[in-house]
Amino acid sequence: MGSYFAVILITVCILEIFLIASVNYYYYHNVERILVNQAEISASFFHQYFAEEELEKQSERLLNGFSQNTAAQVQIISSSGQLLQDSAGAQDGKNMIDYPDVQEACSGTVGIWKGREPSAHDTVLAVSYPLQAKDMTVGAVRFVTSLTDTMATIRYISAIFISVGLIVVAIVAVLGIFLSRTITGSITELKLAAEQMAEGDFTARAKKRYQDELGTLADTFNTMAAKIRRNEQLKNDFISSVSHEIRTPLTSIKGWVVTLKTEPKDGTAMLADGLEIIESETDRLTVLVDELLDLSKLDNGRIVLSRTPLHLADLLRHIGKQLAPRAARQSISLEVQADDTLPVIHADENRLKQVLINLLDNALKFTGPNGIIKVRAHSSQEQVVITVEDTGAGIAEEDIEHVLQKFYKGNTSAAGSGLGLSICYEIVKLHQGQLKIDSQAGQGTKVYIYLPRN
Ligand SMILES: Nc1ncnc2c1ncn2[C@@H]1O[C@H](COP(=O)(O)OP(=O)(O)OP(=O)(O)O)[C@@H](O)[C@H]1O
Ligand SMILES: [Mg+2]
Repeated sequence: MGSYFAVILITVCILEIFLIASVNYYYYHNVERILVNQAEISASFFHQYFAEEELEKQSERLLNGFSQNTAAQVQIISSSGQLLQDSAGAQDGKNMIDYPDVQEACSGTVGIWKGREPSAHDTVLAVSYPLQAKDMTVGAVRFVTSLTDTMATIRYISAIFISVGLIVVAIVAVLGIFLSRTITGSITELKLAAEQMAEGDFTARAKKRYQDELGTLADTFNTMAAKIRRNEQLKNDFISSVSHEIRTPLTSIKGWVVTLKTEPKDGTAMLADGLEIIESETDRLTVLVDELLDLSKLDNGRIVLSRTPLHLADLLRHIGKQLAPRAARQSISLEVQADDTLPVIHADENRLKQVLINLLDNALKFTGPNGIIKVRAHSSQEQVVITVEDTGAGIAEEDIEHVLQKFYKGNTSAAGSGLGLSICYEIVKLHQGQLKIDSQAGQGTKVYIYLPRN
């Protein structure tokens, strides 16, 4: 606001100075031109008709003729600077040679003088014109006019200019203050909201005042706050679900340890059962911790793929064999269709395995008995597409866009931390591939993995 105001002020000042100087020049120049004109006409009149006689003798007649058509004071001066006639009254014999214009006229050129007339206490403009007879300067005619009126007019016009300038500056200042208020107002509100958020209150919202850049900023800000809030919520949910996930195996491990400690003599069958459960629960904990570690590494971009030539058909068959027992246990038919024509791709074998196992784990988890799970792959010029399809519960439409997010579990009560799909997504992304989910609640789910061939 300050700098804009300074620019306007300087512009207005320069304009004012220029205008006032122009008016000054115009008015003075005009008065001067009129006087010079009249003096010139008078002098040439004298030269034509009165040059024969002596100046002193006909001065009175001349004065009458010269002063007829002018409001200015007319003086006739001899070549020695003596005042011969004065239309303002008799001051005969007064020596005028001290006036610079008279001096010039007596030496044969036009003299112009502007200054204070001491006798009249007035600023005047005087034009002296030489009177010539037979190429000799015999005297001068002097036209004098008061500048008081002209100066008053100039002062009046200047006053108008200055007032207009002041009004312009005032309007600019008021408008500027108003505009800057609207901006600083929005910014202050944004700042307040930001401070509240910095304090950890993500329910705070920035008020959107206008549809301008600041309004957009407020919108962005609010979206950001909403996202942070959501993430906070997800994190809290995650922590509570992880705690729950950890506590369940810990409780059962602890239970078995206590049982085995207090009843050591009760046969080996119980010992074997107990140890087996302790082992599987420990495995569960290990998987959970591994997932968490993976996720934090993926988040920090610390996972580096170790790519090797990978025979896709082998990989799919291997995974099929690995999960066949579980599928059989759940009475689900698991079909893996892996063609030997599938290309060898450059990928991180362990990570891709992790992706497929995660997807199959989901499929097995969310498909009931007698369901069908199909793993297929086919390739085109540029890419390989692997699909994992099940006939299970499907994903509700409102959940689909969120399932790739970390910790998101929808409203399933199945075990899991909601990390599987987000890990898959990150790994596929690291391979410059894409992961897409197609699903309908109650119908089943189909997950596509697109991987570039080279
Ligand atoms: N094949 C599927 N059928 C139905 N719902 C699915 C399927 N795959 C994923 N979902 C839904 O998406 C959610 C997120 O899946 P994700 O694999 O990320 O987590 P999770 O399986 O719950 O836990 P984790 O994989 O970490 O053990 C699941 O909780 C489930 O609601
Ligand atoms: Mg999962």
